[in-house]
Amino acid sequence: MSDTGGNPKTDYSPGLEGVLAGESALCQVDEGASGLRYRGYAIGDLAEQASFEEVAYLLLLGRLPTRKELDDFSAQLRAQWVLPGPVEAFIGVVPPDAHPMDILRTGVSLLGMTDPDAADGSHEANVRKSIRLLAQIPVLIASAYRLGHAKRQVQPSADLNFSENLLYMLTDRQGDKTARAMARVLDVSLILYAEHEFNASTFAARVAASTLTDLHAAITAAIGTLKGPLHGGANEAVAAMLLEIKSRDRAERWVREALASKRRVMGFGHRVLKQGDPRSAIIQRQAEILSRTCGDTRWYEIATILDRTMQQEKGLYPNLDFYTAVAYLLMGIPRDLYTPAFVCSRIAGWGAHVIEQQDHNRLIRPRALYTGPPPQTYVPLAQRT
Ligand code: SDX
Repeated sequence: MSDTGGNPKTDYSPGLEGVLAGESALCQVDEGASGLRYRGYAIGDLAEQASFEEVAYLLLLGRLPTRKELDDFSAQLRAQWVLPGPVEAFIGVVPPDAHPMDILRTGVSLLGMTDPDAADGSHEANVRKSIRLLAQIPVLIASAYRLGHAKRQVQPSADLNFSENLLYMLTDRQGDKTARAMARVLDVSLILYAEHEFNASTFAARVAASTLTDLHAAITAAIGTLKGPLHGGANEAVAAMLLEIKSRDRAERWVREALASKRRVMGFGHRVLKQGDPRSAIIQRQAEILSRTCGDTRWYEIATILDRTMQQEKGLYPNLDFYTAVAYLLMGIPRDLYTPAFVCSRIAGWGAHVIEQQDHNRLIRPRALYTGPPPQTYVPLAQRT
């Protein structure tokens, strides 16, 4: 334990790599047999058999819902789709070239000012606020994007599930067989994106929550953190890379030249999962199937060549963002909405972490390894030459 002088108790690890920074019952990230689990449930089982709404319920309320509980949860989401007046007004004055993640960060902050539970930091209020954000964020993203791109506004439909509505609001696609296949893959991607232990954006939310600030403030910190290309911004960068490569016969040369020039190839590598991301194999399978359903295997073929070359040359494996970008390209989701789509899912994990942190709180305040100058003597200004 640190003594009264507060001397650091453990060795320094850059970027907190490998450091246990707290306790959590939400997610088990294990490169071993257990793999990735949300509250004990294997991610493969959830991706194959559950819906994203069931997974959001599991994370926020602590167990899988019964059929009636899930129906009530979905009805609760539908009832919160309306954006408050100030947020609608904000959408109308957003700078035309604002990045959707910046719009989202500011919009969520505004939602915090208008939330009916704004002054209530109790467990129950934080659950209500998380569910409200889960419903409002897709509408905020889609409304702002459509207004900014002179597209007609569309409202989510009570006849569609969460992912069908998200696909519809982002791409206008709904109702046909291909749209249903796309929405199912989108739902799997949202299940996979929902939670991942103490990743950078979640940890930012927990640090904020540990000061007992409000949930919206903690989520705003998480959104700002997720935007970075080393974290949530990677999926958007992977799509840009695939579009730049354009065809399978350019893929291997492109990636070899990128590595030769020491470039980061986005969508590969992970701070924790050095032997591969178990989520990647799941979304890769979905991207492959969707490629065939859509009759466009181009992006998937380029991706598999990059995947093979990166493993051969750098021993680096694709993370969740890599094949997700292939799937989102096929769905026609606008590229700068990929990370906002990540937020539509991760809000469930972030909300659950803020609730967990504040249920058993201790201020998060690590120490720094001092690397500054030795003790200095003050020289009065008049004497400084
Ligand atoms: C997410 O934490 C989470 O759980 C995050 C996430 C979640 O669900 O919340 O999983 C979501 O953020 C996934 C990661 C998305 N980011 C990217 O795809 C960006 C590209 N990846 C890298 O920048 C990198 O792999 C990180 C940031 C993800 C992890 O970096 P680390 O652990 O700090 O590793 P490092 O930067 O120290 O790299 C180690 C070596 C270096 O080579 P050397 O300098 O030692 O020769 O591997 C190389 C790096 O150059 N390397 C890469 C690379 N990633 C690492 N080289 C080329 N391309 C890459 N993508």
